[in-house]
Amino acid sequence: MNLVQKSHVLLRDFFCNNSPKIAVDATLGRGRDALFLFESLADGGILYGFDVQKAALEESRSLINSLPCSSRKKFNFFLESHSNMHFLLPLDCRGNVDAICFNLGWLPKSDKIITTSAHSTLSALEGVLNLINPENFALSVLSYRGHSGGMEECAIVGDFFSNNFPHAEIFGDFENPISPVLFFASNKNI
Ligand SMILES: C[S@@+](CC[C@H](N)C(=O)[O-])C[C@H]1O[C@@H](n2cnc3c(N)ncnc32)[C@H](O)[C@@H]1O
Repeated sequence: MNLVQKSHVLLRDFFCNNSPKIAVDATLGRGRDALFLFESLADGGILYGFDVQKAALEESRSLINSLPCSSRKKFNFFLESHSNMHFLLPLDCRGNVDAICFNLGWLPKSDKIITTSAHSTLSALEGVLNLINPENFALSVLSYRGHSGGMEECAIVGDFFSNNFPHAEIFGDFENPISPVLFFASNKNI
């Protein structure tokens, strides 16, 4: 199982008794995480998504629009950096977001020029602290160390988790210094 699949397994287990009413995909990319989150939403729930590339929003939209019977769930995507999410999301999201997923790095099958960066990722994660529902939240961050700046980004994500969620679960091949690392925190492991 790769770490994208692992992240979905952890989220699915978390959602088992409490489907999210508000979920955020901080890096839409090819829309696989967005599709998973959208399908996991409670009836009447909403998924917000962010990406800095138009192609990512278009692909994610078309994946979700291809689902049958999704009319009781909604989505709203922003062509914006996730570092702005805390002021772009409606005020009623503050303290009410049940699930947030980051899958860092570059858009798969792209020219790999645009990647997430340590600075904007940290700023987004700091914003997440005001958004999560303290009674019910899951935060999944998959960090790739292989791209330029990826090592620094992963170290910053690691510091963020140890400072804010010291009991978070961390997965990866720790023998391999450039392999991806998955960080997962929820209200069940704080
Ligand atoms: C690994 S991909 C995401 C994969 C995606 N979740 C999926 O399921 O296919 C990383 C994405 O992050 C996006 N990205 C880069 N910097 C960003 C930023 N500051 N804010 C939001 N998205 C960003 C890239 O454009 C890219 O599409």
